[in-house]
Amino acid sequence: MQIRILEDSDGLGRSAAEAVAKELKAKPRSILLLPTGSTPLDMYRHLIDIHAQEQVSFSQATFFNLDEYLGLFSEHPASYRRYMEENFYCCVDTDLDRVYVPNGNAPDPAVECERYEEAIKGAGGIDLCVLGIGRNGHIGFNEPGASFDSRTRVVRLTESTRRVNAEDFEGDRAPEKAITVGMGTILGSKKILLLASGENKATAVARVVEGPITEEVPASVLQRHSNFTLLLDQEAASSLCKENL
Ligand code: PGA
Repeated sequence: MQIRILEDSDGLGRSAAEAVAKELKAKPRSILLLPTGSTPLDMYRHLIDIHAQEQVSFSQATFFNLDEYLGLFSEHPASYRRYMEENFYCCVDTDLDRVYVPNGNAPDPAVECERYEEAIKGAGGIDLCVLGIGRNGHIGFNEPGASFDSRTRVVRLTESTRRVNAEDFEGDRAPEKAITVGMGTILGSKKILLLASGENKATAVARVVEGPITEEVPASVLQRHSNFTLLLDQEAASSLCKENL
């Protein structure tokens, strides 16, 4: 595991964008697995800038999203498809035929999950996976207790996640269920980059770096991955032991 600590969330976003751009320059046909949420917004903004300066093209790459709420139309303002279109795909040269987001409104979600997992396999597996992390250690929507060999599936969100994510919805809770790429799918990625910003992620980050590997903290299993980098801002790193800084 490599740990890099950046000054603030902007520095974190720039560093993450540079890592993605480096991957795409080395392998323009890369397969990427990407996150949503507030943390990666700076990364997408910097990627758009890097693209505008003609330093990188996304046209040959394939993009998968980690997750999507169940039961939302893709045009719903809080859907992750819409998030990706508004924050990233709008402004770069992605080939939309190679952009995948789980269909949260599929008539049969189980079939949709199988189709999604097959699409990842068919693309040749993930080259670079970029993750955020929940305060409870979730990655994607793999909540505490998720099996380390799980695949893309429908999951029930915890009450805490539904409350934290409520701001995007009318009412005080996000939807009950989502489709998420599984832990096994994530762990099959060749490279993994986890981004964490802010003090409210410090405990989860310390558990990932220093805690036991346990399904109760899904991200803790990343310790075992041979090409795992943690990008943190100072606040997210604030609970780490000194020897890990
Ligand atoms: P956040 O979400 O970036 O909005 O904090 C991260 C996550 O829940 O995975």
